[in-house]
Amino acid sequence: TKKPVSLQCSYHGEYIPKHIQHPNYVRVFDTTLRDGEQSPGASMTPLQKLNIARQLAKLGVDIIEVGYPASNKADLETIKMIAHEVGNTTNDDGRGLVICALARCTKDDIDKAWECLRDAKYPRIHIFLATSEIHMKYKLKMSKEEVVEKAKSAVEYARSLGFDDIEFSPKTREVIKAGATTVNIADTVGYNYPREFGQLITDIKTNTPGIENVIISTHCHNDLGLATANTLEGAYSGARQVEVTINGIGERAGNASSEEVIMAIKCKEELFDGLYTGVTGIHIAATSKMVEEYTGMQVQPHKAIVGANVFSHESGIHQDGMLKNKSTYEIISPEDIGLHRPDEFGIILGKHSGRHALKSKLSQLGYKIDETKLNELFWRFKSIAEKKKVITDKDLIGLVSD
Ligand code: KIV
Ligand code: ZN
Repeated sequence: TKKPVSLQCSYHGEYIPKHIQHPNYVRVFDTTLRDGEQSPGASMTPLQKLNIARQLAKLGVDIIEVGYPASNKADLETIKMIAHEVGNTTNDDGRGLVICALARCTKDDIDKAWECLRDAKYPRIHIFLATSEIHMKYKLKMSKEEVVEKAKSAVEYARSLGFDDIEFSPKTREVIKAGATTVNIADTVGYNYPREFGQLITDIKTNTPGIENVIISTHCHNDLGLATANTLEGAYSGARQVEVTINGIGERAGNASSEEVIMAIKCKEELFDGLYTGVTGIHIAATSKMVEEYTGMQVQPHKAIVGANVFSHESGIHQDGMLKNKSTYEIISPEDIGLHRPDEFGIILGKHSGRHALKSKLSQLGYKIDETKLNELFWRFKSIAEKKKVITDKDLIGLVSD
């Protein structure tokens, strides 16, 4: 049974994470409105962002990263509005929704984040600083010691303003000591391989003093098409927060896709030693559609979980299996993500389809066909199907009337 247990943070005694605290609970941190909106051409209006935040609350995510307040005045006002409204609602199961904003390690960024979020019931600041050797040398032009000091002071400053929920990207021992409550391990350029990323999380978990008092988070980009796999491997290795976006939108090749990560954890609960999220799934399809419509970023038809073809079957062999038992060729049913397909079996007739599917479709259209007639219609159907991508009901009616 999934019984919440309490997790007291020893660095700042009074702080107890407010959302579910079971050791197997994986927090879903949605960054569609921040990293997702950084996809070229994906910008949204304030009202669209508010609608998405409301929808994410319905979906059941734990944390919504609503934006980067220091980037421009319009975004700052939008973040404030969302923090005020959505930041004071709870999820269906009574979990408080955490509203998060991104900030660099500067006073001005942190002040702006506080200005936006102070109205939310559970505000979180996500402070980041690039710490790779290349970034320190060429981008920041700072020594390692200076970088560590800057990170530590930023966390201390955020605490002094009133933030008691602080995420820091990436992790350092000093930021944990200074009061960070989540440390985020970002694969910013999507270069990791699942086994490598899992090992990284294991090493951090094993070798970082104080890590047992904070949540380890993953933030994976998809440059090698491995964002979902890396995220899952991270959770399997001990991360308890996953940073994801709806439809996997985000910089370059995007971020780990929310629907893929959530459904994979759900389908493979046993493999993952009982890991679970607070998302039930039934609002996934509607959320995906909303993000597709608002951002104009079309979901490819074969996209896992939410693509238009995911519950369609064209080949005769698959259709025959589906007509006998749906679990032959579907591991998730449309209802699991809140879809109702018009055709109960997802049969799409085309040149790969077989007799069984044709007979079933004709019977749905009200035609009772015997085997001799079916044989004759089948060959005529095949010759039409070779010329057309998809056979419609109208084509079938024409076929029978001929
Ligand atoms: O990809 C990245 O490194 C980020 C950070 C702000 C976490 O988006
Ligand atoms: Zn990112």
